[in-house]
Amino acid sequence: MAALATTKRFQRLAVFTLVAVTLTYLFHGGLLPAAPAWHFTSFRPSTYDWTQRPQAHPIPESDILPLPTEPPRTLPRIQHRFSAEELTEAHNSTQRHRQDAVRFAAKRAWGAYQKYAWGHDELRPKTLTAVDTFGGWGATLVDSLDTLWIMGMKKEFAQAAKFAERIDWESTTAGELSLFETNIRFLGGLLAAYDLSGEEGLLKKALELGNMLYAAFDTPNHLPANSFKIRKAKEGLLVADRRESSAAVGTLSLEFTRLSQLTGDSKFFSVTDRIKRDFERTQDETKLPGLWPVFLDLQNGFLTPGSSFTLGASADSAYEYLSKMHELLGGVDPAYEKMHVKAMETAKKHLLFSPKFRESEAAANILFSGNVNANGAGIIELEAEVQHLGCFTGGMFALGGKLFNRPEDVEIGEKLARGCGWAYAAMHTGVMPEVSDMIACDGPDRLKPCKFEKDEKKPKGDDLPGPFAYLRDNQYLLRPEAIESIFILYRITGKKDLLEVAWNMFVSIEQATRTDFANSAISNVDVGGETGKINSMESFWLAETLKYFYLIFSDPDLISLDEYVFNTEAHPLRLPKPPRGDV
Ligand SMILES: *[C@@H]1O[C@H](CO)[C@@H](O)[C@H](O)[C@H]1NC(C)=O
Repeated sequence: MAALATTKRFQRLAVFTLVAVTLTYLFHGGLLPAAPAWHFTSFRPSTYDWTQRPQAHPIPESDILPLPTEPPRTLPRIQHRFSAEELTEAHNSTQRHRQDAVRFAAKRAWGAYQKYAWGHDELRPKTLTAVDTFGGWGATLVDSLDTLWIMGMKKEFAQAAKFAERIDWESTTAGELSLFETNIRFLGGLLAAYDLSGEEGLLKKALELGNMLYAAFDTPNHLPANSFKIRKAKEGLLVADRRESSAAVGTLSLEFTRLSQLTGDSKFFSVTDRIKRDFERTQDETKLPGLWPVFLDLQNGFLTPGSSFTLGASADSAYEYLSKMHELLGGVDPAYEKMHVKAMETAKKHLLFSPKFRESEAAANILFSGNVNANGAGIIELEAEVQHLGCFTGGMFALGGKLFNRPEDVEIGEKLARGCGWAYAAMHTGVMPEVSDMIACDGPDRLKPCKFEKDEKKPKGDDLPGPFAYLRDNQYLLRPEAIESIFILYRITGKKDLLEVAWNMFVSIEQATRTDFANSAISNVDVGGETGKINSMESFWLAETLKYFYLIFSDPDLISLDEYVFNTEAHPLRLPKPPRGDV
């Protein structure tokens, strides 16, 4: 009896152990549905609580605008409906193969970061050292969280998320931060990682950071100081700048609004909604009505005396966020559509151009976006400067075109996206330069392809391909904007040749930038062979460039454009329900 009882007890123990081990394995191995497995609790609060800091210029409770209470509307469908005929086994197999190649590049870069730069902002990919460029809280780590999640690198995600939940915002190597960069990389990164994983500690960390960045608005006129000097911020001594880039002030709304939506505290939404009203009020009063000058005077209100206009550097995401805010607010604020449409109309009229090809060349039906100088008295001069940063415009036009039912804008977006794809292919390395000058078509048909007259020479010599006149900055910094637009256009149109464009870009970038352990920015895209690695791998390589490459080669339902909106650092934020219709 005793022996039998012992055996039974032993058997029960064995079964219990087996069940326990299996459950532990399932939870930690990630085979069960993701939700419960990732709710680890490693959150540790920062050592300084910004909510306890007395405000120098308090915003009265009654001035804080609540989030819109109207239920989100059904917005038009963005993504192409991929049919079974399109998703054949051959298609799927090519996609899988390419996706594996992208994941492999990401694993290498992440592995090198883990090994040589863990917890620091960036890895220096040639010397395998670490560098702190954005406050020293681990910019690459936070920026990569959602990429790790999306690529199914769940073990790496858990390690990184645990680190992120313990960041102490008080412990920084910088005396001064960029509000813009901290917002798009850190706040955007944490919010998207939370939206994907549901891991509460990440939202708590995002809220702490939001409360810190909120202090940038504690200025005499409650417009934000992009140059966030931490000591001064604590003492309430920040003042908005007299010359602030429009991107810096226009690129807070998505992250601040998502933070308000997730926490129920509308103060974040409120301060950026105030900025929206300033943009709205001044849109028709600038020297190029419809667009805002690159630099704004925030110190003396919200003044727009500048005469330079672009969709590129220092302005870019201020425009990008107009249609995206419409999405995030579920279409209930009509101001964003109005502003977006006016801006796109003006850009089409004055900034976009078709490049001029040589008589002997086949002219591609593509567009680029340049810069304009306007004096406000009728003189409007186009400068056909093409920036890699400006390559996001293809995605912006196309996304807005779908959202606001403007099919012509989808076509324009496609030509812009293909323009950057073309510029990649035109260089020796297959990678587009950071900044170049082109020869633009002119006259009323500037958006139509055109050619040089017979015997017409390019002013700076004929050695560069097609419309390229001069390579102003021939580096490639591992930037994402071109693949970003190709990705959005593929998801919107379903046109398969865009996958070939993307694959050629990926192969060229890998070849030109690969180091022994990761990838590096290069100093010259127009020489073959040794392309001068410059020992820099910014966090957007993993956060954006590789994420977009991965997603274009994925199942189109993965991070669908009908369920998520990407911030300007490629962090997908979840859109409010209801799901879209079939409009
Ligand atoms: C290809 O993959 C998609 C999902 O991305 C799937 O729906 C489809 O059935 C697959 N096609 C084949 C032939 O297996």
